[in-house]
Amino acid sequence: MVTLNCTSQKLKLSPTLAANEAVSRLREQGQTILHMGFGQAPFPVPVRLKEALIKHASNNKYLPSIGLSELCEAVLSYYSDIIDVDPSTHDVIIAPGSKLILYAAQLAVKGDLLMPVPSWVSYEPQAKMLGTEVIKVSTQLDDEGYHINAEALRNTIIRAREEGKNPTKIILNYPNNPTGLTISEPELAAIAQVCIDEDIFIISDEIYGLVSYDGIYRSISKYAPDHTIVSTGLSKHMALGGWRVGLAIIPKSIEGLKDLMVCIASETWSCVPSPVQYAVLEAYKGHEDIENYVSDCCAIYDFVNTYIAKGLRDIGLTCSLPQGAFYLYPDFKDFRDVLLRKGVRTSEELEKYLLETHGLVTLNGTGFGEEPETLTLRLSGCDYDGDEVLNAYQNGEPLNADFIARHAPNINLSLEAFAACVDRQSANDDEAVVEEPASQLA
Ligand SMILES: Cc1ncc(COP(=O)(O)O)c(C=O)c1O
Repeated sequence: MVTLNCTSQKLKLSPTLAANEAVSRLREQGQTILHMGFGQAPFPVPVRLKEALIKHASNNKYLPSIGLSELCEAVLSYYSDIIDVDPSTHDVIIAPGSKLILYAAQLAVKGDLLMPVPSWVSYEPQAKMLGTEVIKVSTQLDDEGYHINAEALRNTIIRAREEGKNPTKIILNYPNNPTGLTISEPELAAIAQVCIDEDIFIISDEIYGLVSYDGIYRSISKYAPDHTIVSTGLSKHMALGGWRVGLAIIPKSIEGLKDLMVCIASETWSCVPSPVQYAVLEAYKGHEDIENYVSDCCAIYDFVNTYIAKGLRDIGLTCSLPQGAFYLYPDFKDFRDVLLRKGVRTSEELEKYLLETHGLVTLNGTGFGEEPETLTLRLSGCDYDGDEVLNAYQNGEPLNADFIARHAPNINLSLEAFAACVDRQSANDDEAVVEEPASQLA
């Protein structure tokens, strides 16, 4: 009999990918589905990158595990400008997606992980795969951002040490998935100081760094350059999730870190496909068409997600106005009584209710580290045809309610579904009808 690794047995398919696969299945079966479940950038591949990929298709040689040297140099020069780090003190490594950078960075540094809650779905499972303990760090969310109080963080570290734990690393993500919020510069500086004082290694997940609605790129590496590895890639601002390009900016001052990351690369993914590495070089040369593409997509994310947040607030839900990325994180706490009458007690039941009753896919808060009874959902505001929307915007159509009605009708249908879900009158009518939870997205 084959005995499976007990650490891995506790794993489930990543909820975001599971939701996406379920939606494709249901749509193939002809069902109408409103999809707020998956954080997939909806826009087309920039033409220049498509052409470059075709041009390099015949390149079939392995590349160095650290990445194509021209690409590493271009990335370092691009990011050292916007992050404000000294390129001579850092190295770059290229990986097949930043998910593997995050995994390799967790693997490289011993000790327990400090993880703010809510946080992206994969940090904790990755920690579990490595047998690492996760120490949760509390956050506050409001229209000013995603707040991690520096002194509370320090206390969490001290308490964990008193309990015999060994906190050595923290993952921070801003603009943030699931909240769409970011961390302000003064707060990044204060968190950096605590990490320097307490010798905590910072894994700074900046995958949405270029989807910042105020156009400001924030990075904690500016405040703690010798403690921070920056993880980013091209999946979000360049809509290239399926091309699988991630990268890390690694401080030379952490002795051995770059070499260890390269060893992990060489023993696992070997190298990112060569044609892809040659093609994405074009993304780092400052071409005007590429920079315009990024800022146009960002303007659309800003408009659509702010529109959804305001729509949710009009319904009475608690939802901060987003500052970046393409997510919202409404809290249904003020409708607990209404939802109870529909048989909904937990965020998982809420997710299932919305799917069963309204064909609306969302992700419940537990995957992001919340307690089951915390009634939060992660919404992804990308349920529209990105080609059509980008085209309309670039042809000068103003971003307003008519734009949504014309080019992103599922957004309004989703808002109607949320309104119906928390409607007090219909809750009275529905009271007796408590359905079995759906199993489609288990
Ligand atoms: C916060 C966050 N980090 C990392 C990733 C991983 O992206 P990729 O592996 O495509 O670079 C994602 C993708 O959804 C994400 O939302």
